[in-house]
Amino acid sequence: MLITKALLWGQKELKDIVERPRLEVEILLSFMLNCRREDLILKQIEDIDFDIFKELINRRKNLEPIEYITNSVSFYKYNFFINKGALIPRPESEILVEKAIGLIKKHNIKSVAEIGVGSGVLSISIAKECDVEIEASDISKEAIEVAKKNIEKFKLEDKIVIKNCSMLDCLDTPELLISNPPYIDPEFKLEKNILDYEPHCALFAPKGGVEILHNILDIIKEKRIKYAVCEMGYDQRESIKEYILKINLDREISFYKDISGHDRGFVLH
Ligand SMILES: C[S@@+](CC[C@H](N)C(=O)[O-])C[C@H]1O[C@@H](n2cnc3c(N)ncnc32)[C@H](O)[C@@H]1O
Repeated sequence: MLITKALLWGQKELKDIVERPRLEVEILLSFMLNCRREDLILKQIEDIDFDIFKELINRRKNLEPIEYITNSVSFYKYNFFINKGALIPRPESEILVEKAIGLIKKHNIKSVAEIGVGSGVLSISIAKECDVEIEASDISKEAIEVAKKNIEKFKLEDKIVIKNCSMLDCLDTPELLISNPPYIDPEFKLEKNILDYEPHCALFAPKGGVEILHNILDIIKEKRIKYAVCEMGYDQRESIKEYILKINLDREISFYKDISGHDRGFVLH
């Protein structure tokens, strides 16, 4: 099939499924042909293997996220490898990265730990900007494979060490702790494209979603960690505030919002 025809066919197939069918078809075609999207225009009269293209379009029709199909996701300033083993990083987590970089620079922080490294995008984005050593944990071996691939891609093996354990169990106590832990209530009805494809251990946490965040606060207290930046659910501010009072955690807390104006995380200092 000619590329011009494939573009039209693909758009028709996806028009009731995705918001921007033309863009997504171009992304899938350029992924398949291993070229830039802009170069498709020069290849319009080339023939492509229709079966391979159809398979990609069908995966998207079944609502598989395009990032998993193309094994690529952009986050902060970079493009990262991604697959189903790890959560697709969300744009709002870029705020966590900015907050962490701000704290590191202001207080000349040298050691950082991340709980729940996933694809590695938070630790990698921070390591690219700051002179720090980072240790990160994850309970998922599949996610750790993705993170390691990304660390290799950015040649950051000297700055970031990943370990397979829960929370901070296998990590040294850092000056700064960062985490975007699972914080969704297991009762919450997520969209099919998330629920059917993204790892559930990256999404859900017990006690209406706040249990892991509470555990992180316990660790901060117990290990006397000076600084922390964590992402949280839009409705978890009160629960976090109450828990800090309950455990008598002696830190200043400031909450931050995402670009939609929802509470999205907190900084402890
Ligand atoms: C929301 S994802 C965040 C991934 C990545 N940091 C990001 O921001 O895109 C949460 C990650 O925490 C991991 N995780 C869940 N429970 C954990 C625990 N008890 N200890 C360490 N990691 C955990 C999950 O496997 C998942 O990779």
